[in-house]
Amino acid sequence: MPPLSTSAPGVRQTKFRFRCIACGDVSESASQNFRCSHCGDLLEITYPHWKESGRTAQDLKSTWGQRRLSRSAIDLSGVWRFRELLPALEREDQAITLREGNTPLYELPQCARITGVPRLFAKHQGLNPTGSFKDAGMTVAATFARLAGFRWVACASTGNTSASLAAYAARGGMRSLVLVPEGKISWSKLSQSLDYGAVTCQLRTDFDGCLRLLQELVLRAPVYQLNSINPFRLEGQKTLALELLEQLDWQPPDHIIVPGGNLGNSSAIGKALLEMHALGLISRLPKLSVIQAEGANALVRTLREAAGKRLISVQAETRATAIRIGNPASWKKAAHVLEATGGACEQVSEVEIAQAKAEIGSEGIGCEPASAVTLAGLKKLVKQGFVKPEETVVLVLTGNLLKDPDYTMEFHRGDLFKGTVDKSASAGLNPLRRPPIVLDATLDAVMRTLQQSEK
Ligand code: F0G
Repeated sequence: MPPLSTSAPGVRQTKFRFRCIACGDVSESASQNFRCSHCGDLLEITYPHWKESGRTAQDLKSTWGQRRLSRSAIDLSGVWRFRELLPALEREDQAITLREGNTPLYELPQCARITGVPRLFAKHQGLNPTGSFKDAGMTVAATFARLAGFRWVACASTGNTSASLAAYAARGGMRSLVLVPEGKISWSKLSQSLDYGAVTCQLRTDFDGCLRLLQELVLRAPVYQLNSINPFRLEGQKTLALELLEQLDWQPPDHIIVPGGNLGNSSAIGKALLEMHALGLISRLPKLSVIQAEGANALVRTLREAAGKRLISVQAETRATAIRIGNPASWKKAAHVLEATGGACEQVSEVEIAQAKAEIGSEGIGCEPASAVTLAGLKKLVKQGFVKPEETVVLVLTGNLLKDPDYTMEFHRGDLFKGTVDKSASAGLNPLRRPPIVLDATLDAVMRTLQQSEK
């Protein structure tokens, strides 16, 4: 299988290049593991000819706005609608799309009261076709995998990437292989990849072990890796920020807060912000902050203990299984965008995550545990004075509530922290619990319950 090249059939030449994030080497093709052939660091996609296109920021905004009235498949995608900032296709029908993106920006009035930040919003990426933000990246990466002639695509995953990969592979007529840590991902996510037809391997290791193995596999077999090491994924995920800014009439919020796992999403959002700023689409940069679970806090430790100079990996442990990652691949990219935008990096406890998740649920929105770290982190950032009450804040909710029903059921039944967290530490969660009530099927019993619930 040839290395993926900018001159693959269907890919317009000269539109983009691969650039190493460490040594800056620029090339027209990338090896199967998406690492620099000189220094081995990660690659990113750049567009050396953007400036020559002659498009003004106003031009771009009005093109993207007009496409919202179009009925063509590529314009109905909330990712490809922004295609001027993506690797170019030769023909519009080459895109593998499930109408990803187009996700709502919600106000969060109750969480606003709780945090004391009145202008608080949630960009809900959990309302994508497979229920997570991964779809925005997958539509682009799967499209380029097919253009490069691959029959097999593969990923290591904590569940959402594998669900998304399996769906887009199926839509694009490719086979998919997913490697997931056995017993450490939710059934909802696993069942998605089964239904979409992936060859699903539950490996007796953690996510980091799965990713290590995949890196070796892609050098030995003609499979195309669709983890966020793949820079096409990050190009697609950039559109979250473009769509968000469009929803805010291009008035930048003061803060964007995102969960951190393998750190691809924060890197993508940061890249988008920097590109938008350079192209004059926004006049100032929002601060991009990353929140991790205390038990999977590699970036927090890397920034605090090694000043962002070398990765401090951890043995990851958290009930927010989507971000149960100890050796994040994109840590350098994330550290760079945090510094460039002036954002913060915080960690939150398991109890804080559970509380925040229930509070987001009480808004009638809901999200999976990994997404709730954003609200828990915001509370800390407000306390520290990093976020001011008069500022506008956007939380990126990365996954749908239905992604992890076991967590939600255990929370409401009061079983989530059984034996792991001191009872007094989780007592504050009791008012948020709504356990299901089993009753005899009589009017009396239901009436009594209704009256008791009024109290
Ligand atoms: N939130 C959710 C719901 C996720 O599934 C993930 C990552 C993240 C946040 C963290 O994003 O890795 O870009 O920093 N899930 C990956 C997966 C690892 O395999 O589904 P990140």
